[in-house]
Amino acid sequence: MAVLPILITGDPVLHSPARTVTDFDDTLRHLVDDMFETMEAAPGVGLAAPQVGVPLRLFVYDWTDDDDILQRGIAINPELWISPTGLAEANEEHDSEGCLSVPGERFPLRRSELAILRAVDLEQKPFEIRAEGWLARIFQHEYDHLDGILYVDRLDRTHGKAAAKAIRRAGWGQPGESWMPGQDDLDA
Ligand code: NI
Repeated sequence: MAVLPILITGDPVLHSPARTVTDFDDTLRHLVDDMFETMEAAPGVGLAAPQVGVPLRLFVYDWTDDDDILQRGIAINPELWISPTGLAEANEEHDSEGCLSVPGERFPLRRSELAILRAVDLEQKPFEIRAEGWLARIFQHEYDHLDGILYVDRLDRTHGKAAAKAIRRAGWGQPGESWMPGQDDLDA
């Protein structure tokens, strides 16, 4: 297993739709192992394959919920159903989201409260998870990565401007930028 460099916003792989996984082979298994290790080292609660430069439709997640239950897994070729978001504005305290591909930054984003994830595992076995709250947010965030969408692309006008400024200030927004979990001192 190995920790992989994480691409930073600006790299085309992060901004393009990923491809359906068709080869359920050892290469895929290794990728998943490395993604778990990379997510742990970052640390993060989710990581999508495009973030490590692999344009395939899969993500991993690892999050302990409010009842201390570990929610950890892998979703390959996922589909996501989400409830309507409603009209309330994003709340600075409760809706603050981050991304390992925009390291060190957080901005509030309103997400759907409920999400139903359908995907397959490494054995191509289908499964379904009904998620609420933060897990629903994680699924929406990671699923977006597979369509080339970052959470900063979804921010409202004010926070979108702030994010664009932070990205410019950091010198990101161009191809080929990455950071190495465990080596580079960045937290997201
Ligand atoms: Ni992300």
